Amino acid sequence: MPQPWRAFIDDHEIAYRAAAGVAAGPVVGRRSRAASDWIEHSRQLALQLGSELKGELGKAMAAGGPVAAISVCRERAPAIAARLSRESGATVGRTALRVRNPANAPDELQRTLLEQFGSELASGKFTLPLEAAFEMRRGELVERRYMRAIPTEPVCLTCHGKTLAPELAAAIARDYPKDQATGFEQGQLRGAFTVTWPAAAPSSGH
Ligand code: HEC
Repeated sequence: MPQPWRAFIDDHEIAYRAAAGVAAGPVVGRRSRAASDWIEHSRQLALQLGSELKGELGKAMAAGGPVAAISVCRERAPAIAARLSRESGATVGRTALRVRNPANAPDELQRTLLEQFGSELASGKFTLPLEAAFEMRRGELVERRYMRAIPTEPVCLTCHGKTLAPELAAAIARDYPKDQATGFEQGQLRGAFTVTWPAAAPSSGH
């Protein structure tokens, strides 16, 4: 499977490398051994959060239907993210341009990346997985961040699609009065997994 990734080194230099044949892009900066390690670790954390969530969501939907499954998204998603954060030392979570839970709102950088992911997915020129890895200078230290696009799949439409069953819409409105996360179509960008490492010395693994 093609694995495009790009790294933002410093605040403005964008290092971009895509697997041959997927997308052409200039290579700026270099990818050190240490960078490969933290990117791979971040990728594993994002994949782990995704697969645990999908597993629990699928089971809950089959067992109790979508209204009952809301609690998986509300309680299990933050709990799994918190556990992975504790185990790794990074901050692991989910974000989106249009969020259901305001606590998942993106910061400025995440917003920029989400906009980029969205237009790349919409253009049809880029294939999943869509990932970004970048390093931000913080004085003497470097903050490392990873994001991975989450596409909208058929199962997501039940709770994030254009039309929701009335009972489900009511339950979501009760828990999330400021919900913005409906109206998605299959294949559109739903959001992204985020992994942020605490600022550390430039040479360390993460
Ligand atoms: C049973 C209903 C339900 C289904 C099905 C569902 N979600 Fe959600 N989703 C929610 C709820 C509720 C939240 C808010 C979770 C929270 O409080 O953190 C949420 C939050 C999210 C978020 C975090 C950003 C935000 O909007 O707060 C993402 C990303 C997301 N869902 C993606 C998906 C994807 C991708 C699928 C399909 C694989 C999916 N969801 C299926 C109910 C659902």
